[in-house]
Amino acid sequence: MRPQMRRKIFTKIAPLVALAFLFTIIIPIYYLYSEKKFSETVHSLVQENPANDVNYETLVSQVSDSEHCDLFSGEWVPNPEGPYYTNMSCSNAIDLQFQNCMKFGRPDTDFFKWKWKPDACELPIFEPRQFLEIVKGKSLAFVGDSVARNHMLSLICLLSKVANPITTEEMKHCEYREYNFNMSLFWSTNLVRVENVAYLYLDELDESWATKIQSFDYVIISADRWFFHPAMFYLNHHLVGCQDCLDSNVSQLTSYFGYQRAFRTSFRAINNLKNYKGVTILRTFSPSHFENGTWDQGGDCTRTMPFRRKEKVLEDYNLEFYKIQLEELRIAQKEGRKRGLKFRLLDVTRPMLLRPDGHPSKYGHYLTKSKVAMPNDCVHWCLPGPIDVWNDFLLELLKKGG
Ligand SMILES: *[C@@H]1O[C@H](CO)[C@@H](O)[C@H](O)[C@H]1NC(C)=O
Ligand SMILES: *[C@@H]1O[C@H](CO)[C@@H](O)[C@H](O)[C@H]1NC(C)=O
Ligand SMILES: *[C@@H]1O[C@H](CO)[C@@H](O)[C@H](O)[C@H]1NC(C)=O
Ligand SMILES: *[C@@H]1O[C@H](CO)[C@@H](O)[C@H](O)[C@H]1NC(C)=O
Repeated sequence: MRPQMRRKIFTKIAPLVALAFLFTIIIPIYYLYSEKKFSETVHSLVQENPANDVNYETLVSQVSDSEHCDLFSGEWVPNPEGPYYTNMSCSNAIDLQFQNCMKFGRPDTDFFKWKWKPDACELPIFEPRQFLEIVKGKSLAFVGDSVARNHMLSLICLLSKVANPITTEEMKHCEYREYNFNMSLFWSTNLVRVENVAYLYLDELDESWATKIQSFDYVIISADRWFFHPAMFYLNHHLVGCQDCLDSNVSQLTSYFGYQRAFRTSFRAINNLKNYKGVTILRTFSPSHFENGTWDQGGDCTRTMPFRRKEKVLEDYNLEFYKIQLEELRIAQKEGRKRGLKFRLLDVTRPMLLRPDGHPSKYGHYLTKSKVAMPNDCVHWCLPGPIDVWNDFLLELLKKGG
């Protein structure tokens, strides 16, 4: 691409970049996605997802090896025993973050009191000792954004009854020395190389994780909302299109394009990692629940109970992102089999779609007196809260050999 053209595009994107910088560095609440624009156009874009004409049940049956029970198809049922830790017992981990909802004054507590019931079997509640026995002498990597961190903190909290890790300052690396078990977070918003937030090199890996996971036994890979905002897409160093870039000279592509390529590139790279022998776990798209407005226009998540299954169906971009992931997982599994690498499904999309009550909303930070209202957080998940089920799932996968 000519430098001149590059400059021109950059001028268009620069304000966005500045905004993104502000949000990530100064107000780390990570509201970067332009969901409004996205959902307005989503219907016309659905056509572009290649997995579009396959229903998700078919895709799920192709990628999950649980013949008897699809763990991820079910419903939330009352569970008076929850939660399994409190903001007190795990204060060292959750205090660092914005998901300690009780501390920030969330008044209702019923959202703890549900557990996931798969249709065809039971999902055991997380057993910290059992988990630590299984992972003894092993290492686990989380690759993704702030939602991946949210997942890792939930795991730290669930384990805190039995053991607490020695951690680096930002908790990106945790060591459970008694168990010789390590856990690391590799921050990667888009999995592929990104420059200035908006330039996505879809066939090049983000080195921040790609060069580091080789020695890990388990790698949980995920990508969520960072694909929603305006972006320029590159393949083989050439600009191939953009999403919401307002430049009529560049072909218009969608988030689906970016999302699919990012997963394809990542899985392909994992399959080509010479010394990697780990189990790769795809943690699927985590739905948000803004109602009565978009994230930047007062949208909120004020419900205090889960949806029943029939009340909320998987549709729109939640469905499309999910299907893209399942399809890419299927391709990766097929490749992986040739050299004995395992790729597993950790499906949070279907269970979490039913949990509009699980987000911090305004209880993800102290209420500020400033006139600038902070957006409500209907993206991340309270700790403790329904996100803890992700680790019930994880333990089940590990029990079955990863
Ligand atoms: C835990 O939550 C309570 C409110 O339920 C709050 O008063 C307390 O400060 C919180 N503690 C920590 C360590 O987060
Ligand atoms: C955990 O990390 C420590 C420090 O980097 C290292 O010495 C140890 O071998 C690691 N253990 C595992 C199981 O990866
Ligand atoms: C598109 O290209 C034409 C011809 O090179 C140029 O005149 C026009 O300004 C470009 N439009 C945009 C939005 O950059
Ligand atoms: C949305 O707004 C309507 C009308 O103001 C209100 O009744 C409803 O409770 C709101 N829903 C949520 C989830 O806040």
